[in-house]
Amino acid sequence: MSSSVKAMIAKAWGGPETLVYEDLALPELGPRHVRIRVHAAGLNFPDTLMIAGKYQFKPSFPFAPGMECAGVVEAVGEKVRDLKPGDRVLATTGHGAFAEAVVTEDRNVFKIPDSMSYEVAAGFPITYGTTYHALVDRGRLKKGEVLLVHGAAGGVGLNAVELGRELGATVIGTVGSDEKAAIVKEYGAAHVINYSTESIKDRVKELTGGNGADVIYDAVGGDAFDQSLRCINWDGRLLVIGFASGRIPEAPANMALIKGCSIVGVFWGAFAAREPEKNRANFAALFSLFQHGKLKPHVSASFPLTQVPQAMQALLSRKTTGKVVITVP
Ligand SMILES: NC(=O)c1ccc[n+]([C@@H]2O[C@H](COP(=O)([O-])OP(=O)(O)OC[C@H]3O[C@@H](n4cnc5c(N)ncnc54)[C@H](OP(=O)(O)O)[C@@H]3O)[C@@H](O)[C@H]2O)c1
Repeated sequence: MSSSVKAMIAKAWGGPETLVYEDLALPELGPRHVRIRVHAAGLNFPDTLMIAGKYQFKPSFPFAPGMECAGVVEAVGEKVRDLKPGDRVLATTGHGAFAEAVVTEDRNVFKIPDSMSYEVAAGFPITYGTTYHALVDRGRLKKGEVLLVHGAAGGVGLNAVELGRELGATVIGTVGSDEKAAIVKEYGAAHVINYSTESIKDRVKELTGGNGADVIYDAVGGDAFDQSLRCINWDGRLLVIGFASGRIPEAPANMALIKGCSIVGVFWGAFAAREPEKNRANFAALFSLFQHGKLKPHVSASFPLTQVPQAMQALLSRKTTGKVVITVP
């Protein structure tokens, strides 16, 4: 049976101010579908790209943005085995999470530890999932290596600092303003560089005795990427996560040759769809770290569902740190 719920809806490509709070029809429940009553949803930079028509995937109108949420299972399709109504879960949804309820595939849904609140769980899967996959599967980060994280106070960035520390790396974080340095240090960075006033290349060389960083986690792109190629160690891995600066950089191939380094693409959503079992194992590892008190997800701001546009503006103004969460009454 289909039903409709209140949601924050995009009806045309545009900025946060173009979203409207209206009824949205939920799809029929397919055999592998799970319907979740949303308690909270996580905001991600790609949500702002999706409503502007600048994301890889363009849903048809009208649609609710929102790629991740936490809540309670309301109903499951006939082929769903491991989930039942009443389960506390988090989920990735592609889009649709900025709503009272959402329908997603069972492979995207994970039961959450009792000690994990809905607010924390809502902002957990995309940034931690991406970062674990990036550092462990793609970056092969080893104990004792130097990890350089750009945009280190942001959603994926702060997770990279924290997981890098847990994996035994020496972490150097970069930020765009001095106010963000404290949280990056608190989460485990040995050093913080302010890239609006300092040269990333010069400082990283100085901090690593001229060697450069072994693994670079780049969610910023633009100038940060260009400088990364000039301060990466021999056999380094430059992880291409995203382009929050707004510029997709181009890499001169001779730099990869001279440095003997690899430029490694990371697309967590595609990985999760192609390798669901490996993704599930990654989540088991992440939940275990959380339950042992090794991860402290940082939510710097929360907004009610009707204020998704304000939440997006706050994210885009670079004022927030860690995650921004949308709460649903
Ligand atoms: N590859 C994947 O699978 C994957 C998955 C999730 C996210 N991503 C990508 O990762 C990036 C970050 O996402 P997020 O959700 O962590 O975003 P976020 O919380 O907004 O963090 C982005 C960080 O980028 C920095 N930044 C530099 N220039 C910026 C600018 N012009 N506008 C906004 N921020 C700027 C900001 O730090 P300062 O102010 O300190 O500079 C900010 O903390 C996005 O490009 C996103 O698409 C990729």
